[in-house]
Amino acid sequence: MSVGIDAISFYSSHYFLDMRTLATARGVDPEKYSAGLGQERMAVLPPDEDVITMAATAASFAVSRYRKDEFDFVIFTTESGVDQSKSGAIYVRSMLGLARETRVIEMKQACYSSTAALQLALPYVETHPTRKVLIVASDVARYGLNTSGEPTQGCGAVAIVVSASPRLIEFDGISGCVTDDVMDFWRPNYMREALVDGKYSSKLYLHALDETWEKYSKLSGRGLRDHARFCYHLPFTRMAEKAHQRLCSAHYGNELSKSQLEEQIGDSLRYNRVTGNSYSASLYVGLTSLLDNSKEDLGEKRIGLFSYGSGCSAEYFSGLVKPGYKDWLFTQNHRELLEGRTELSYEQYQEFFSFTLPTDGREYEVGKYKTGPFRFRGLNRHKRKYETVSVGYATSNTSPS
Ligand code: CAA
Repeated sequence: MSVGIDAISFYSSHYFLDMRTLATARGVDPEKYSAGLGQERMAVLPPDEDVITMAATAASFAVSRYRKDEFDFVIFTTESGVDQSKSGAIYVRSMLGLARETRVIEMKQACYSSTAALQLALPYVETHPTRKVLIVASDVARYGLNTSGEPTQGCGAVAIVVSASPRLIEFDGISGCVTDDVMDFWRPNYMREALVDGKYSSKLYLHALDETWEKYSKLSGRGLRDHARFCYHLPFTRMAEKAHQRLCSAHYGNELSKSQLEEQIGDSLRYNRVTGNSYSASLYVGLTSLLDNSKEDLGEKRIGLFSYGSGCSAEYFSGLVKPGYKDWLFTQNHRELLEGRTELSYEQYQEFFSFTLPTDGREYEVGKYKTGPFRFRGLNRHKRKYETVSVGYATSNTSPS
C-alpha cells in the first residue's frame, strides 16, 4: 500500500520587510542579502499572530477537504513554542474543530522535527489506512536586531495531511540519517532569540548533506539522475544553491550551469525567498513552492528531500509525485496570500520585533492587525486567548476559559 502526503498548505504573515530596507538601515550593500543570501523579503509576524495562529491558518486549507473525525493525530512541530507544557496541537485541534478523539502532541528537534513527524506518521497510516495524521510545522526565526543572523529571519507554517493512497506524494521509507551532538544553533529557555555560530552551522549542514545523501543513495541504489527536482531545508535560499552545487560537483565532477540549477531547485526557492526562514516548516514550504510553481508536470517524477535541524539531526529521503497532483494543491490561496501582503517600514519592523507580552499575569489585550482566520487576542492570568476573525476583524471567542 502506498503512503504519503495527501494535502499540503502553507501560511505566513501578512507583513514583510523588504531586504533593501534592512540593508539601508544596517549600512550593508543590498546585494549581500539579494545575491549573497538569496533573500528578497522577510515575513514579520504582527503582535496578534504566533506559531499557533499560523499553524491553524495553514491547516485550515488542508483539512477543509476532510471530515473532522478522520484525523487520529495532530502533530505540532516547532522550536518557537508558546508553552513548555501544553502542546500547540491542542489549540490547533480546537481552532479547526477536529474530533475530541484526536491525539495531540508537540515535537522538537530544531528544523528537523517536521521530518521526524512525517517518518512517524507514515507507518501509522500504513497500519490504519482509513485514518489521517495532520502535521503542522510552524516557526518564527528570530536572531535579534543588528545580528549577522538578522537577514535570515522570517516565519511561516505548513500543514501536511499524511494518508494511505496519497494524492500528492508517496514515500518508500528509504532514507539516510545522521545525528551529532554539536552547538551550531540553539536557544536556551531564558532567551527569545536564537544563538548561532553561523559559519559553523553552514559547514555542518553541508557535511550532513554529504553523509545522508551517501547513505540514502547506497540504500536506494539511486543516483542524482533518478531525481527530477530537489528540495532542501532553507535557512536562506543561497544555502540550497550551494548545497546542491556541492552534491552535483561531487557526483558529476563539475557544478551545474545556472539554467540547470534553476531547473532542478529554482521553483522550490520561490516562497522562501520572500518569506525567509521558517525553521521546521522550511523544507516543506520549499516542497509546496515546487509543487505550486513547477510549469512542468511532475507526475511520476522523483523529488529528493534534505532535512537539517541544528544540534544536529539530518535526513535525506525522496518522494514520488502522483499523477494528477496539481488538482489537489492550494496554489491560488498561497499566491493570494503572498501577493496581498503589506510592506513594513524599518520603524514598523522594529516595533513588531520588539513587542513583548506582560509576564505578571494581568489581563492584556493585543491590538488588531491583518491576520488569517485566527488571531492571538491576549493574555489573562497567564492563559493565552485566541479568537476567530473574518477578513481581519474579530468575530467570536474560541478560547477555553
Ligand atoms: N554582494 C554580493 N554578495 C555578497 C556581498 C555583496 N556586496 N557581500 C557579501 N556577499 C556574500 C558573501 O560572499 C557570502 O557568500 P558566500 O558564503 O558564498 O561566500 C554571503 O554574501 C554572506 O556573507 P557573509 O558570509 O559575510 O555573511 P555573514 O557572516 O554576515 O552571515 C550567515 C551569513 C552566517 C548565514 C548568517 O546570516 C547567519 O548566521 N545566519 C543564521 C544561521 C544559518 O542560517 N545557518 C545555516 C545553516 S544552519 C540551518 O540551516 C538551521 C537553521 O535553519 C538555522
